[in-house]
Amino acid sequence: MKCIDQVPDSELKGKRVLLRSDFNVPIGKDGEVADRFRLEQGWKTVQYLRDRSAKVIIISHIGREPSESLEPVARELKKFGSVVFVADIVGAAARGAAEAMREGELLLLENLRRDPRETENDPSFAQELASLGELYVDDAFAAVHRAHASIVGVAKILPAYAGLLVCDEIREIDAARAPEHPSLAILGGAKFETKAPLIKLLLEKYDHLFITGALSNDVFKARGLSVGRSLISKELPDETTLSNPRFLAPIDVTAEDASGHAKVKKPEEILDNERLVDVGPDTVAMLAPHIAQAKFILWNGPTGIYEQGYIHYTQQIGELIAGSRAKIVIGGGDTIAAIEAAGVPKEKLGFLSTGGGAMLEYLLKGTLPGIEVLK
Ligand code: 3PG
Repeated sequence: MKCIDQVPDSELKGKRVLLRSDFNVPIGKDGEVADRFRLEQGWKTVQYLRDRSAKVIIISHIGREPSESLEPVARELKKFGSVVFVADIVGAAARGAAEAMREGELLLLENLRRDPRETENDPSFAQELASLGELYVDDAFAAVHRAHASIVGVAKILPAYAGLLVCDEIREIDAARAPEHPSLAILGGAKFETKAPLIKLLLEKYDHLFITGALSNDVFKARGLSVGRSLISKELPDETTLSNPRFLAPIDVTAEDASGHAKVKKPEEILDNERLVDVGPDTVAMLAPHIAQAKFILWNGPTGIYEQGYIHYTQQIGELIAGSRAKIVIGGGDTIAAIEAAGVPKEKLGFLSTGGGAMLEYLLKGTLPGIEVLK
């Protein structure tokens, strides 16, 4: 895989560069971008190419509905630098705009998923996209697990390079696949069945794996405890996982009753009308020495339902991690949003990955379709 900074500047000057970014960001009720993180991270490559007088044609998806538009993203990007938005992908308007570009100009095209051929990885769509540019740069780390036309199709047609963000992400997540010891992994989220292979791998590679979020409900359930009205996965952890000495689960929890009152309890004390919404203080105290000793910490998934206000323990863990000497890799949109909401300074938290599903899949497999195609 060749990173774009290995290409001589003279080869970028005046070239139409098709830049696949992941500007799939949440849009708030006011119709504006609600979280700029991916835009900030993705802008580095945009800037790099613009500074080398390339003509940068940015393509991205947003959301999963074809009705969604990148127009709010264009409005937000204009705060970084001048961008022309064209509400077209491969039609006459996009083609005309691409041909009329001058050196150093930026164009943002409409949501790739407005064309069903994108997710189908249709070769005709890849060909039409490729014909807009002379070089292809994939900087959409959060989407490299998708074998879509703009990710793998175009890369097979044009000279293809990895963007600065993709190169950073791969370097950092490769380090997380071979952590320095002592090491601690913290994994939250839901759907145990999709995380089981990763849990197995992390138990092999990390000295300790702490399971939190809705995944810990599955742990309690598998141990024969009541979890009341809590979210439960289709599959539960097996005995080998539960009895692994490296495996850690919360030792106390925050439980909310039907009228919305929350109380810290032991996992054995959950009533049928309660649901688990976070860990408790003893769990943070249990983790503290592991965090203090770790040379490497991987964190994906807040401890609680932070969007409903259960953010206190995620904040405490975030602060402990921010104060540690470990090398840190953090990922998952939820984790970063929770950290931001909790006010933990992001700059103290090591590497923040833009990838959610892509980060987890790369951790597990060590490659992804959008990375393979660049090799
Ligand atoms: C993400 O947010 O994880 C990426 O943008 C990929 O989006 P997708 O899951 O809709 O393919």
